[in-house]
Amino acid sequence: MYGVNVAILGATGLVGQKILEILEERHFPVGNLTALATEGQGRTVRFRGEDIPVRSVDSMEWSSVDVAFFAASAEASRTYAPKAIAQGVTVIDKSSYFRMDPSVPLVVPEVNGYAARDARLIASPNCSTIQMVVALEPLRRQYGLKRVIVSTYQAVSGTGREAMETLTRESRDVLDDRTVTPSTYPTPIAFNVLPYCDKFGEQDYTGEEWKLTRETQKIFGEPLPVSATAVRVPVFVSHAESVYVETEQLFDVAAVRNLLASSPGLRVIDDPAGGEVPVPWEAADQDLVLVGRLRRDLFVENGLHLFVVADNLRKGAATNAIQIVESLLPRWA
Ligand SMILES: NC(=O)c1ccc[n+]([C@@H]2O[C@H](COP(=O)([O-])OP(=O)(O)OC[C@H]3O[C@@H](n4cnc5c(N)ncnc54)[C@H](OP(=O)(O)O)[C@@H]3O)[C@@H](O)[C@H]2O)c1
Repeated sequence: MYGVNVAILGATGLVGQKILEILEERHFPVGNLTALATEGQGRTVRFRGEDIPVRSVDSMEWSSVDVAFFAASAEASRTYAPKAIAQGVTVIDKSSYFRMDPSVPLVVPEVNGYAARDARLIASPNCSTIQMVVALEPLRRQYGLKRVIVSTYQAVSGTGREAMETLTRESRDVLDDRTVTPSTYPTPIAFNVLPYCDKFGEQDYTGEEWKLTRETQKIFGEPLPVSATAVRVPVFVSHAESVYVETEQLFDVAAVRNLLASSPGLRVIDDPAGGEVPVPWEAADQDLVLVGRLRRDLFVENGLHLFVVADNLRKGAATNAIQIVESLLPRWA
């Protein structure tokens, strides 16, 4: 068996830790593993029962690496990805930095895996985009899509490790009747709902909302109108999305259910009368995108409502990146 030399930038973060866990779980043929973060400070990460020392990315010599997962910040990707690529490394970037660069493929294997084939730098989309396009792709192929309106309910882990600590601390403060001092977000997130997930930008849409629009268009390769409202909710893991889609062709809801149930990466949970609906608790710790609450719009004949839930750290981040690399494994055979 051959070994692929892997580096993880951001190995101490939520996504980096999940990449380590899933590489092990999927028996990815890792040769040497290099764990990188801002600095080492005597830190280690656990992989295959061993403590791997964390190194500073500043002193990294990339030539011994085959593939690097970048799971740090957009700024870190801007600084270090060109250096790694120049040394022959294949980089899978989880940050937003290269996603809209026309020369960089933005890949979700269930939709456009072919786009990664000859690339040295491959961007993995935003977590909320990934789960939505996995659910929409079968509908796009079968019926064509006219427009999409999506409202998200996004977990705090989408903001990184610090946000999970914030939700825990704020929740304890509320329950213990102490004053809550917000930190990660401008207002408390515990027992609250924030109608934004990012900074406000053009036309009062947030960055996260523009990502849902622009990344979906790039992945589908068509100017599909996607209007988004991205909302942060006090959930630790798994993003939920209420998706409304208008199709080009007429559809039958039972046929849609069957189509989604037989499509890659999806699991249909759609028996509301029996209490079977997709929820974040069910989606956490698995790679499938859960879909349910399928129903025709009351007023628009080709309008369909769906509820889409997935683990943002797995399919929304680590698993998607690893699936991309798995499709490229012959490169290192
Ligand atoms: N969380 C999600 O659901 C999700 C989903 C899709 C994409 N992403 C993207 O994935 C990336 C990581 O997110 P996360 O949630 O894992 O964040 P996180 O928990 O805050 O972890 C960030 C990691 O990046 C490292 N890092 C930050 N800046 C760095 C720099 N300049 N040089 C070297 N290392 C640096 C940190 O190292 P230290 O320990 O030394 O600080 C840490 O290991 C982000 O770009 C994020 O947008 C996240």
